[in-house]
Amino acid sequence: MTSILSAVAWPYANGPRHIGHVSGFGVPSDVFSRYLRMAGHDVLMVSGTDEHGTPILVQAEQEGVSPRELADRYNRVIVEDLQGLGLSYDLFTRTTTRNHYAVAQELFRTVHRNGYLVPRATMGAISPSTGRTLPDRYIEGTCPICRYHAARGDQCDNCGNQLDAIDLRYPRSRINGETPVFVETEHFFLDLPALADALGSWLQTRTGWRPNVLKFALNLLDEVRPRAMTRDIDWGIPVPLPGWEDNPNKRLYVWFDAVIGYLSASVEWARRTGDPDAWRRWWCDPEALSYYFMGKDNITFHAQIWPAELLGYNHSPGEYGALNLPTEVVSSEFLTMEGRKFSSSRSVVIYVRDVLERYGPDALRYFISVAGPETQDTDFTWAEFVRRNNDELVSTWGNLVNRTASMIAKNFGAIPAAGQLTTTDQELLAASKEAFGTVGDYLRHQRLKRAIDAAMHNAAEANQYLSQQAPWKESDPERKATILHVAAQVVADSNRLLAPFLPHSAERVHQALGGTGTFLPQPGIREVDDLDGGPAYPVITGDYSTQPRWAQEPVVPGTPVRPPTPIFTKLAPEVVDEELARLG
Ligand code: MF3
Ligand code: ZN
Repeated sequence: MTSILSAVAWPYANGPRHIGHVSGFGVPSDVFSRYLRMAGHDVLMVSGTDEHGTPILVQAEQEGVSPRELADRYNRVIVEDLQGLGLSYDLFTRTTTRNHYAVAQELFRTVHRNGYLVPRATMGAISPSTGRTLPDRYIEGTCPICRYHAARGDQCDNCGNQLDAIDLRYPRSRINGETPVFVETEHFFLDLPALADALGSWLQTRTGWRPNVLKFALNLLDEVRPRAMTRDIDWGIPVPLPGWEDNPNKRLYVWFDAVIGYLSASVEWARRTGDPDAWRRWWCDPEALSYYFMGKDNITFHAQIWPAELLGYNHSPGEYGALNLPTEVVSSEFLTMEGRKFSSSRSVVIYVRDVLERYGPDALRYFISVAGPETQDTDFTWAEFVRRNNDELVSTWGNLVNRTASMIAKNFGAIPAAGQLTTTDQELLAASKEAFGTVGDYLRHQRLKRAIDAAMHNAAEANQYLSQQAPWKESDPERKATILHVAAQVVADSNRLLAPFLPHSAERVHQALGGTGTFLPQPGIREVDDLDGGPAYPVITGDYSTQPRWAQEPVVPGTPVRPPTPIFTKLAPEVVDEELARLG
C-alpha cells in the first residue's frame, strides 16, 4: 500500500465547466484515483475552485457583481458539475478559505527568507480610463518578432515566443480596446535562474512521463527568467511581508496562490478529519507518490513554477518541513468541438451540466476515457458520442449484462453453481482474471484508452462466449448452469474492471447480478463552516474507505437474480442534429 496524492488542477470560478475542462483534469484523475483505491492504495484526491485573479474580476464586471459574489456563485455551480460527474475528491475546496491564505503566505515567507523571491522594479500596464492594472494576457498587439497582429502580452500564439507586454506594437486592451499606459511598479520575482540547475536535475530523473509533457518541461528550461509572483490587483491574497501586507493593491499571483492549493487542501482535509497532521503522509514521506492532472495550458504551472517553489521552500523548510516534488505531471492535450476551439463567448461550448442532464454521467465519462485527448488534440463530435454510446456501451456492455441476468433470472432465479468446466470455460475465466493485471497496469500509468479497451475486450469475449455456447439451446441443465455461471463471473469481473470509468452504472450492474449494499462509494456535497471563522461553503467529499477489491472475486451461487432493467440508454440518431442545432 502506497500513499498517493492525486492533485487535480483548480478550475477558475468564472463560469460553469465545459466538457473540454473535465476531459483535461477531471475524468482522468478520477479514473486513476478510483482504480488506486480499489487496488488498496491510500489515495488523497484534492482540488478546489481558483477564485482570485483577473479572470474572476473580468467576469464579475460583465455580470455586474462583486468578485466575491461571482466566486460564491460559480464555486457552487462547479461543485455541482463535478460531483454530478462523480469525481471522487477527498476534498474539493476553494482558494478563498482562511486556511488557504495561511498556507500560501507561509510558503511565500519561507521562499522569501530563503532568498528565492526578490523584489524588482518593472513596467506594468494600466488602463487609463479605470486606473486599473491590465494583466499581460489582457493586452493584445502586433508581435515585435513575427508581426502577427493578435499577439498577447505574455506570448505570441503565432511564433510561440514569450513576450513582454511593453514590447508589443500598437498595444490595446482586450477588455475595452483602449491603449494601455505603462508605469513603473515593484513586484516579487521567483528567482528561476537560481533554481534552474536543481530543476533540471530533478526533471532528468522524471522518466515515464508522457513524452509531450516532458519535452515541454525540458524546453522551458532553455529560457528561464525571473517570473513575477505578485500583481497590482486588489482581489487576492495579501503579500505577507512588512510594507506589503497592508497594501490593498498588491496581491499574490495565481502561481503563488492556486498552485499552493494542493498543499492547503491537503492540510484542510486533515484538519477536518480530526488528525491535523494526516496530510504529511502524502507530502513529507519520501515513499509517497504524487500525480498532477491538468490540460496542457497548465504544464508551466506544474512542471516548472510549482517544483521551483518547492525547491526554494525545501532549501530551508518552514513549518511544514521538506515537501515532496511531483512524481508526475500528467497533462492531457486539447479537446476541440466539432472542429472548433471552445469559446463560451461564441457559444461554441458544451456544458457538463447539460450533458449530465440529458445523457447521464457515465456516457460522458465513457466517451472521455475511450476517445478523449489523452496524448493528442482530439475532436469531440456528437455523431461519435452517439455511436460510441450505442455500439459500445449499449450493444457490447449493456447487452452482455442484460442477456446474462435475464437468462439466469428466467432459468434459475439465482446464480447457478458451475458443474464440470470445459477448457473453453477455464480459458475465459483465466483471461478474465488476468485482465485485472493488464487493465491495472495501464491505469497505473494513466493509459485510460488502453485500459478501457482491455476492459471492454473482456466483456466482448464474454458476449462471444455466450453466442458460441448458446445456453438458450442447451438441453443439459447442468451444462446450461455452468455456462451461465461462467458468464455471471465474467460480467462481475468486467464490472470491476469498468468501475473506475463507469462508477454509476457499476452500482446497477452489481444489483442486476443480485448484489446488495453499496458497491462503490460516491462523492457528495457538504456545506461546511470555514475552519478559521470565514464564511461557510460547499465542498465535495466522501468516505471511500470501503472498496470492492481489484481482483476476480468468485460469484456466489444461490444469489437471487431478478429480470434486469436496461443499464444504458440507446440514443436516437436525431440527437446529433438536435445538439448541432444548439451550437452557435
Ligand atoms: N485556474 C488556473 C487555470 O485554470 C490554474 C489551475 S491549476 C493550479 O489555468 F494549480 F494552478 F491551480
Ligand atoms: Zn510572433
